[in-house]
Formats: sequence, C-alpha cells, structure tokens
Amino acid sequence: MTSLKVQFAADGHSAVEVKPETHLIDALLQRHLEVKQLCGRRGLCATCHVYVTKKPESLTETTPREAMTLSVLTGARANSRLSCQAKVIGDDVEIALPEGLYIDSFESLEKLIGQRTQVPILHPVTGDVLVAANKIIIRSSVEKLEHLNFDIAKVQLKNA
Ligand code: FES
Repeated sequence: MTSLKVQFAADGHSAVEVKPETHLIDALLQRHLEVKQLCGRRGLCATCHVYVTKKPESLTETTPREAMTLSVLTGARANSRLSCQAKVIGDDVEIALPEGLYIDSFESLEKLIGQRTQVPILHPVTGDVLVAANKIIIRSSVEKLEHLNFDIAKVQLKNA
C-alpha cells in the first residue's frame, strides 16, 4: 500500500493522502490547517486535539502520555486523539477539529482586545474556553487571564 486516505468531516475539506505510519498531524498540515503545536509534538498540549468521527482503527493505539493529557483536557471525548501522537495505519480515518482558536501567548490575546470573536478562544494547554464565541474581547477580561503565561511557559520548559 503506497498511500492512505485521511478524511475531514468538515464541509469543503477533501481527503488527503499520506504514507502509512505518518503522524495524523502531518495530514492536517498537508490540508493547510493551522496547528500551533505548542508543545513541539510531545503530547503535552491541546493544540493538536482532534475528534475521530470514523474508522478509529485506522490509527495506532493511544499512547500512555496521550491518554494522560486527554484525561485533563477540557472538551475531550471518548473519540479524542492528539494528532501528533496518532499514526495513520489504515484507510479512511475521518477527523473533525474542535471548534475554536488556540491562543499561543497572553500577548496574542491582548492583540484581540476590541474585536468580536467568531469562534471560542481556547487555552492552548487545557483547551478551556477563555472567551466564548461572539463576544467582544475587553481589556478587563483579558487582564484576568494574565496568569496564563505561566502555564504556557511551563510547557515550553518541558521541551527544553
Ligand atoms: S502538539 Fe502538543 S500535544 Fe500535539
């Protein structure tokens, strides 16, 4: 078998073809989806989280580290995977992305002050909804989230 299809549940996202044993995250990147990879593909953050909507058996089994991260990740379900940990080993796995935009730093959240978010703004490590969809981001709510940099720094430290 020379290539395997990865399907995307969202409308307008056609399948991509990957070589066997390719990490699922590379199929997302091949599809030009923005994946922040905050932890450097180490299975420690929320930014590559996907839901497997069909053919979960076409992926390698969940790793212990992945299971641990998913167990504390807001929004995780029974069909959740971390796409940097799962490898494609069969045809026609179908995935859906959680709705939302992961911020990668407190500064990037600050830059959104005054704007109305179309989608929820999500914490990049826990997946928590920091700002709900269709809300205008105001300075006082952003200031309440200033402690976030600490969590993000901790994840980056683990990569060092
Ligand atoms: S990039 Fe962080 S868990 Fe996959």
